[in-house]
Amino acid sequence: MYTVKVNGQEHQVQEDKRLMRYLRDDLQLTSVKDGCSEGACGTCTVLIDGKATRACVPMISKLEGKEIITVEGLSDREKEVYSNAFGRTGAVQCGFCIPGMVIAAKGLIDQNPNPTRLDCAAAIRTNICRCTGYKKIIDGIMLSAEMFRNGSVDLPEHGVHDIGDRIKRVDASEKVLGTGLYPDDMYVPGMLYGGAVRSKYPRAKVLSIDAEKAKAVPGVVGVFTAADVPGNNKIGHIMQDWDCLIPVGGITHFIGDAIVLVAAETREALEKAKKLVKIEFEELPGVFSPHEGIKDEILVHNSKGTNVLQHEHLIRGDADKVIADSAHKVTYHYETPWTEHAFLEPETCLAMPIGDVGVYIYSTDQGTYATQHEVMSLLNLPPDQVIVENGLVGGGFGGKEDLVVQHHAALMAWLLKKPVKVKLTRPESLMIHPKRHPFSMDVTTSCDENGILTAFKAVVISDTGAYASLGGPVLQRACTHAAGPYNFQTIDIDGKAIYTNNPPAGAFRGFGVTQTNFASEMNINQLAEEVGISPWEIRYRNAIRPGQVLPNGQLADPSTGLAETLEAVKPYYDENEHVGLACAMKNAGVGVGLPDWGRARLVVRNGRVEIHSGASCIGQGLGTVLTQVVSETADIPVEKIDYMRANTSTGPDSGVTSGSRQTLVTGEAARRAAAELKKDLEEHSIDELNGKEYIGEYLAKTDPMGADVPYPVSHVAYGYATQLCVLDDDGKVKLLVGAHDVGKAVNPISVEGQIEGGIIMGMGYALTEKYELENGIPKSKYGTLGLLKADAVPDVEAIIIEKEGSVPAGGAIGIGEITSIPTAPAVAGAYYQFNGDFQTSLPLKNTPYEKKKPAKKAAPAKAAPAK
Ligand code: FES
Ligand code: FES
Repeated sequence: MYTVKVNGQEHQVQEDKRLMRYLRDDLQLTSVKDGCSEGACGTCTVLIDGKATRACVPMISKLEGKEIITVEGLSDREKEVYSNAFGRTGAVQCGFCIPGMVIAAKGLIDQNPNPTRLDCAAAIRTNICRCTGYKKIIDGIMLSAEMFRNGSVDLPEHGVHDIGDRIKRVDASEKVLGTGLYPDDMYVPGMLYGGAVRSKYPRAKVLSIDAEKAKAVPGVVGVFTAADVPGNNKIGHIMQDWDCLIPVGGITHFIGDAIVLVAAETREALEKAKKLVKIEFEELPGVFSPHEGIKDEILVHNSKGTNVLQHEHLIRGDADKVIADSAHKVTYHYETPWTEHAFLEPETCLAMPIGDVGVYIYSTDQGTYATQHEVMSLLNLPPDQVIVENGLVGGGFGGKEDLVVQHHAALMAWLLKKPVKVKLTRPESLMIHPKRHPFSMDVTTSCDENGILTAFKAVVISDTGAYASLGGPVLQRACTHAAGPYNFQTIDIDGKAIYTNNPPAGAFRGFGVTQTNFASEMNINQLAEEVGISPWEIRYRNAIRPGQVLPNGQLADPSTGLAETLEAVKPYYDENEHVGLACAMKNAGVGVGLPDWGRARLVVRNGRVEIHSGASCIGQGLGTVLTQVVSETADIPVEKIDYMRANTSTGPDSGVTSGSRQTLVTGEAARRAAAELKKDLEEHSIDELNGKEYIGEYLAKTDPMGADVPYPVSHVAYGYATQLCVLDDDGKVKLLVGAHDVGKAVNPISVEGQIEGGIIMGMGYALTEKYELENGIPKSKYGTLGLLKADAVPDVEAIIIEKEGSVPAGGAIGIGEITSIPTAPAVAGAYYQFNGDFQTSLPLKNTPYEKKKPAKKAAPAKAAPAK
């Protein structure tokens, strides 16, 4: 028996356990988030005798007589200040890190009421945030301290707010205070804990399964294999090639393959039983690189007959001839690495039976309807018997598009008719969800004597790992955007995505463009040097402008603002010595002729308006975007609008949160619905409309790949950006600038937050992040991924360029992905200016971020700034 004091109350604890488990499972203090259980993320931070401490580390037995404070134990004044200050400064995105940040802030401000920004960064240096880049979190801490010092109060948002207003996010308070529920925060009566026994080898034949000992463990309620799946054992958004469970006689595709599911009354019984499941394997040789895979000597999926998942070949003009005839040409080989999303919330799903007829899935994912469709197929159930609701989603960045827990929780809940929660451990999460594809690229770019680009040729190969996931579309987007946002017409781009026995690769912020952009932008720097003009000048001469034609054949519309983003960074470029820059374009919307619907449903209830849509808000701020769109269009105060989380039973299908599409497609759908409501409000009071519904739909219509039409519309809109990196004299990143053309910023605070967070993620990609694999087996832990911490990030300047011309959603173009795309070549360009070392693979070597001093070589002469 141990005595601990939590939030002012003494508790007797019978059994020794980790503090976090006691706070969450016994006291249900859900502000204490479980991001890793291994002391590496800081989401579980609490105060122990006034000192910020990670609660997943200490055992209760070591805390006798100590005083523990969680966010739930803050005073009313502290809750008011932190939720207002963090909300007002835009510090809250997905929110999963935020209660831990608040506790770290309290630990600081209690000791130092007037901290500097450096003090704030030091206070949160063991707390990772993957969304914000930390700048706005530090703003939030500084404002909190100021509010405490001044005794000032802040008021909730009220009144009509237009597109373009800097309002607080609608879900900021519940995320700051830890009252908003992520699926892992749900504890329901009779809930079981579920998990999977996985493969021992990346590629092996499953010879037999013996689960008798596991079944005999007290508290174990069910043990299931592929034989228990009532419907189709194969899942997958686009291609159904991912086994829910590998059957006896089947061959595994990667180390994370699930073979047996176990459900138990306690976590301890679950873990014990999993260890007692005996699986006999015949280990088989695997294939661990796309260069081996392409030989088809070992097939990852026997039934496919080849390891080539997808082949793209885009041709316009005769690239070989134009390159041969051009004044300047450069050819390089580039390699980009695996990257892990590292969202703070591990994948979690709570599935509950709907009587005897269906399942209710409470999940953290990027597409409620996609999850519904795959679970329907797995369980052989119709749509009305599978309901999917999003909890709060603790970050996704593309890594929560695929099912990794939802189908397992749903299957067990359906078979047992009991609620089952499945949560991946952090090592499982690192092993299983699809990563950013590593790419291998041979790229040639040519230009004339004036630096005007003439042609681009590339051969790219991606390692798509064990399953298709989004590997096909990622490759396609990598190829369609490879030549960049420039005005030239001759391309020859050949791409292949290759299956291997590595963990699957899929969607990740940038969707393949991050990789090809690195190669094409690096080539442009080399061409500039050959011509004798600056990297800024070559880009400005070639930047796509309205009315010109992109390399993919699409006509650039009036909203095209690349040149303006270059102009915006010019002063920084001219003023600094060690500076690099890069440009990018990124589609908003699925495009290429695929159905791309946005849908929203407004319901008037008790004098208020509810916004329903199947579109997932994964921390990017969709709920606030839709609230502002409806507020402006229908002239309704924001305090009378309720954004409801995505739910297939109440919100229409608005597709997956991917491809920077939701602001544009669901934003436009919400605008259309609100316009109808507005018409009714001209004739009726809101009370007279009680119960009335308004449905808005928008189809982003595009042309299929290869369409034989003039200027095929590949995507309805593109965002454009220029990013710039400045190094100090020691070779450390001093400043990152992101100038982004977003059409119209619905909420500028959110847009800045996306730029700041995305650019820091891009800096990690350039310099520090590694997801290490050895023969298909992940070697990285959360703490060794190389994620940048608050005391290691430079200043970030976000510049928003607004250019009219795109019509849907008031001209707003999604910004989720492009923020991470041009960062790596901008950083690499700065190092080239710094030490003359032209590097063609990531992360960059010979920088201070490798923990050794960069060798300073003679820098190339910097070209004179353009007049
Ligand atoms: S859950 Fe404690 S540090 Fe990550
Ligand atoms: S807001 Fe920090 S991890 Fe999402």
